[in-house]
Amino acid sequence: MNKCLICNSEISPFISYGNMPIANGFLSPEKFQEEYFFEMQLAHCPNCNMVQLIETPDQNMMFNETYAFYSGTSQAMKIHFKNFAEDVKDKYLKESDPLVIEIGSNDGIMLQNFKDWGIRHLGIEPSSNVAAVAVKKGINTIVSFFDESLAEKIIIENGQADAFIAANVMCHIPYLHSIVAGISKLVKKSGIVIFEDPYLGDVIEKTSYDQVYDEHTFLFSVTTINFIFNKYNMEVIDAIPQETHGGSMRYIIGHVGERPVSERALIQIEREKELGLNDPETFVKFKKNCEISKQELKALLIKLKSEGKKVAGYAATSKSTTILNYSDIGSDLIEYICDNTPIKQGKYSPGKHIPIVPIETFKDTYPDYAVLFAYNHAKEIIAKETEFIKQGGKWIMFVPNVHIVE
Ligand code: SAH
Ligand code: TMP
Ligand code: ZN
Repeated sequence: MNKCLICNSEISPFISYGNMPIANGFLSPEKFQEEYFFEMQLAHCPNCNMVQLIETPDQNMMFNETYAFYSGTSQAMKIHFKNFAEDVKDKYLKESDPLVIEIGSNDGIMLQNFKDWGIRHLGIEPSSNVAAVAVKKGINTIVSFFDESLAEKIIIENGQADAFIAANVMCHIPYLHSIVAGISKLVKKSGIVIFEDPYLGDVIEKTSYDQVYDEHTFLFSVTTINFIFNKYNMEVIDAIPQETHGGSMRYIIGHVGERPVSERALIQIEREKELGLNDPETFVKFKKNCEISKQELKALLIKLKSEGKKVAGYAATSKSTTILNYSDIGSDLIEYICDNTPIKQGKYSPGKHIPIVPIETFKDTYPDYAVLFAYNHAKEIIAKETEFIKQGGKWIMFVPNVHIVE
């Protein structure tokens, strides 16, 4: 019997994506034999409504000294996080000598801004290779997993925080109770918590099931975030939709009664009921949509192959691991995937073992079609790959449905 990680109610999966490898586990041929797989199943809790993985690999298998995702690979995300940081500074750092704490600070993409402004900051990042990039830039970073006990240590050494921020990491952590308990202690009574993660509403609406992978223990909604923070006397005071990662939500949270709850947050909670995010039927439909998407993508690639077309993948995202393994697409259908991350190049994709090559390989001889796995960075990528289109190339996208971009 499986239990909800948030409220301990009994849960059962509504979809199995089959055996999945570590999404960011790009590997060399000598590691193929010992590659780790787990059964990736998603469940919706009928009591608290949290959507969650039934099983997640040990966190040390995912977040370690060879973590393959460097936040700084996207220029657009640098701008996004600069705006995020400016918002925090302008609206919430009113007291003197404020302290900003970020978890999942990665290569320092967000904290760089606070450092530049001379604001006291501390990053908590367990993956030592990406943390080292931040440290080199002079960004204060602790190489560790955040939890309640680390929060207590930080309070002793640094005092309480004025702002606790995070992006694309809260949904990664199965022991969310310890995280929220830690946050509630770490953040001053007048302080603020601001974080963003891929939004369940967008995943359902766009069938962007590639947001489901080992690192994403949860798919949050305003309803479920409010539920868990309420247990620690905190509440969502605002919820602001974001375009990043194919549709995210930024949650703004304070200690109960400290700040007014915005109309926008209340409307969003109501909208989630209308969208069916609390209704098991929604997930039955979502499962069907995933199956259709998977069949259509593979059928399209088989058709292109039969026509003698050359197809490549663009951007070896963690999300692509779900697409390729669930849809059973290997190097017979996608010759290679190009990516600008040096640590991924020369390795092979998790599970399906498609070669990962530098972007130059793509530019040297353009394929006829390229599957854009980083559709969340579509604007940035399409803008810099205009030559591909000029040469007659075409992009294939699979969100919100499988299509060739005309
Ligand atoms: N915030 C960055 C990085 C997101 S990737 C961005 O949005 O681009 C998620 C990051 O969270 C990884 O660098 C991973 O090592 C880190 N992480 C995972 N579990 C964590 C935990 N318990 N505490 C702090 N960081 C964690
Ligand atoms: P993400 O979708 O998880 O942010 O991962 C993006 C991946 O795409 C990462 O491996 C870097 C790669 N990438 C490129 O190769 N070129 C680009 O222009 C961008 C923005 C990302
Ligand atoms: Zn629950």
